[in-house]
Amino acid sequence: MKTIPASAHGKILILDFGSQYTQVIARRIRECQVYSEIVRYNISSDDVAALKPKGIVLSGGPASVYDKSAPLPDPNIFSLGIPVLGICYGMQLMAHHLGGQVEFSARREYGAGQLSVSNGSQLFDGIGGQIDIWSSHADKVTTMPSGFRAAAHTENSQFAAIEDPERKLYGLQFHPEVAHTPRGKEILQNFVFHICGCSMDWTMGSFIKEACERIRQQVGDQKVVLGLSGGVDSSVTAALLHKAIGDQLTCIFVNNGLLRSHEEEMVQRVFGENFHVRLKYVDASDRFLALLKGVTDPETKRKRIGNEFIKVFQHATEELLEEDRRNGARRHAGYKFLAQGTLYPDVIESVSIEGNPAQVIKSHHNVGGLPEKMHFELVEPVRQLFKDEVRQAGLQLGLPKDVVYRQPFPGPGLAVRILGEVTPERLSILREADTIVVSEMESSDWYYRVWQSFAVLLPVRSVGVMGDQRTYENTIVLRIVESQDGMTADWVRLPYELLARISTRVSNEVKGVNRVCYDISSKPPSTIEWE
Ligand code: XMP
Repeated sequence: MKTIPASAHGKILILDFGSQYTQVIARRIRECQVYSEIVRYNISSDDVAALKPKGIVLSGGPASVYDKSAPLPDPNIFSLGIPVLGICYGMQLMAHHLGGQVEFSARREYGAGQLSVSNGSQLFDGIGGQIDIWSSHADKVTTMPSGFRAAAHTENSQFAAIEDPERKLYGLQFHPEVAHTPRGKEILQNFVFHICGCSMDWTMGSFIKEACERIRQQVGDQKVVLGLSGGVDSSVTAALLHKAIGDQLTCIFVNNGLLRSHEEEMVQRVFGENFHVRLKYVDASDRFLALLKGVTDPETKRKRIGNEFIKVFQHATEELLEEDRRNGARRHAGYKFLAQGTLYPDVIESVSIEGNPAQVIKSHHNVGGLPEKMHFELVEPVRQLFKDEVRQAGLQLGLPKDVVYRQPFPGPGLAVRILGEVTPERLSILREADTIVVSEMESSDWYYRVWQSFAVLLPVRSVGVMGDQRTYENTIVLRIVESQDGMTADWVRLPYELLARISTRVSNEVKGVNRVCYDISSKPPSTIEWE
């Protein structure tokens, strides 16, 4: 694949030493409309120089510079003449490499504190003498490298911020990137704009323009196929490609029979009618449901659905070629490219360091194997973006709000929300319950305030009474969670009145349900989906 530079803009390179906040640093910098990119801590200084960043940030991390297996950077990065900001462990590394002293301390400084700023540091320009900060460190710098001076201190630490303005090297013992350091964003802005000299050129408009150019360069006059799921990532990818290459793009939407109510209509309306994207709709519900007959094991369900998806997709691209030939379309060499809505958090190679809580693997969430088996070349135009940036891009590209802000929906669909066997009858029960949950969440304005809100159908029946009749019917569980990224989650403390309304409607309106429960488990130890 041709490599196309990620961005023509001035960028900040963030070396990741395994901090749980590395992505937060990247986002804070991007919020300043400056492009930032995360790389592994051991990138060589030559590679850094080749990337031509305007500044370098060394993230924090759980290690101690004295650990045998401590992740260390190429020390030459400090003499490239590029400004460096070391945060927490990053500052200790800087001191350690440049001849200062770092002391191992068993006493951890953790949580909120007060920082006293000395006069004159560019890093603290316009910030005042005292600010609230948030720290999390055990080791600390006890002797600065020569050429450095203290720029701020705390009660416990003489060197809470250090700098060598000549060489443009800066260190902060606290975390400016977290919300608990309220003026931290200004500190980062001072670094990015005043010390590194970046300009505010990373905007969604500029991203879209460049992404379109990159797509055109990569694809030329070839054909691209994209599996549209209706989720925000694939939808934005489709809209972007459509803008870039028009009818060279064909989307395939597979109805696997496990979708929510009216999902296929929504996708056809938005993409077929609004955008006039060439959309191939494949109704493979019967095939999927046949394969799921009698299956109750969650992993078997997931595998069968994943494998079948690959087959259906492959068959659909062959049919497309056949259609093109029949329609006498201009000869083309087939669908050479596969577009995917891969996001930035999926591509960052996170540093595996013991004690790093960010180190959670989410393997099952990708439609595994599709590209390798099908010999496509990949087009991944949003792989530089975080989720909130993808949403902004979607809005800018004209996608409706209900597509851009829709809640995540798992690839295996309702199959992982029906515990036990998936049958047409049980699908219909769950769909009806789900429609009620979504509509009540929307009309109470809660839908966009939570990460996910959905119904789960249990393989459990219980006794109830309706009118004068004894019933023996199914149980629906409401799963409503808040989360930043799906990795951890907590159940939402919804108002009782709303819970009551959903419960009453589900048990009154959905035939076959006589009991509604609310899931009050967080993740961990539970997961968001039940299977
Ligand atoms: P869990 O259930 O692992 O889910 O806590 C975390 C987030 O990922 C979504 N999810 C999936 N998304 N394909 C997807 O595209 C999948 O197979 C899949 N399984 C779970 C889930 O809805 C939640 O947002």
